[in-house]
Amino acid sequence: MEKITVRVCTGTTCFVMGGANLQELNETISEKYGDKVELTASNCLGLCSINWEYSKAPYVKVNEEVVSEATPEKVVEEIDRQLAKQ
Ligand code: FES
Repeated sequence: MEKITVRVCTGTTCFVMGGANLQELNETISEKYGDKVELTASNCLGLCSINWEYSKAPYVKVNEEVVSEATPEKVVEEIDRQLAKQ
């Protein structure tokens, strides 16, 4: 089974738009998935500047899948979706 990589954007835009709430993922992910999922922080993923006016920060990437307006719940949902496909 392949490991899932979760990259949480810690760039300024994402942080200001609510990325700080994503810190609880640290605990949730290690409790729920152990070493099946690897959580990393990332500099600006380059997604916030595509269309500033309609920006859907904060962004998180679960493997190559982008989660916009990310919340811990949405990220966990996406992880579950990808694990179910494996
Ligand atoms: S700050 Fe998160 S995508 Fe740019």
